[in-house]
Amino acid sequence: MPNLQREWKARAYAKVNLHLGVGPMRDDGFHELSTVFQSVNIYDEITLRIRDNVLDRGKSPVAGPLKITGPTAAGVPTDESNLVWKALDRLALHIPLSYPALDVEVHKQIPAAGGMAGGSADAAAALMLAQKLYATFFELEIASADILQEIAADLGSDVPFTMMGGTALGKGRGEVLSPMLTRGEYHWCFIASAQGLSTPAVFKKLDEMREASASAGDGSLTPTLDVTDTAQALVSGDVHRLAKVLKNDLQPAALSLRPDLRKTMEVGMEAGALTGIVSGSGPTIAFLCEDAAQAEEVRSQVTLEIPKTRGYVASSPAPGVRIY
Ligand code: C5P
Repeated sequence: MPNLQREWKARAYAKVNLHLGVGPMRDDGFHELSTVFQSVNIYDEITLRIRDNVLDRGKSPVAGPLKITGPTAAGVPTDESNLVWKALDRLALHIPLSYPALDVEVHKQIPAAGGMAGGSADAAAALMLAQKLYATFFELEIASADILQEIAADLGSDVPFTMMGGTALGKGRGEVLSPMLTRGEYHWCFIASAQGLSTPAVFKKLDEMREASASAGDGSLTPTLDVTDTAQALVSGDVHRLAKVLKNDLQPAALSLRPDLRKTMEVGMEAGALTGIVSGSGPTIAFLCEDAAQAEEVRSQVTLEIPKTRGYVASSPAPGVRIY
């Protein structure tokens, strides 16, 4: 391998759901979604290093425990349960020859288990990076774009979006994507909690709350599947208009599991945010702000007043996976 590049790097961006409409649970246990994803410029970095040893087909290409570094590394698994590991195993099934073992490093800055698709973005980056690495190594395309999409969707509902980035409407369980028009740049402050929330637990809580509210004859938790308001606000590029229409059907469930988040919302609003919303399944709170200075003000106020929170100033839209 005289001239082959040994070290391969990619950047994986986080996302926020500007609209997250959750329909009823389907037979496969997933909920039908109508969501507007937008990527934000908080990112993890994935590095794959090619080792000298060559493995027989069927073996995992991952040489050993993942090296997880960076400010949000705490609690992120280093074993086969990490989506990055699963992504590399799945892609390797498509290699028709023996292949090199890989050392894997993930430098984390996206809050983990925070509703910002950090794990999904890492898997998306690993998939695209490994595809490129193998294409160079073997001078052979390992998986067609369709197969890559299929692997991505199998790995998780947010993985296909984090591959493409930008702004997109997500239907199905979030994996059926259509790009959306958006104008301008939006400024955010994200407040992450020390403790994550389990996505399945939040969906389950919403189902329970909906059942209870239906039997009480109260329709307040009905699914909001129409994204017209969000689409129009994005085209206008008017942040005030967008702030008025941000919507997350999972929010009541996330707040019910984590009542402390109400205080975070309150402090962020007092600090001047245009609006605050639970990001995805939470517990990260996304504050949409007028500009970067206001986002910084929200970050400093909230992290000062609410213990064990970490704040990030970011902007959107950002790109999908970037290989460099
Ligand atoms: O697809 P992903 O692995 O991210 O989903 C995690 C869990 O979140 C699922 O097992 C399911 O409980 C819930 N989920 C859902 N409906 C979706 C997406 C996720 O119920 N559309």
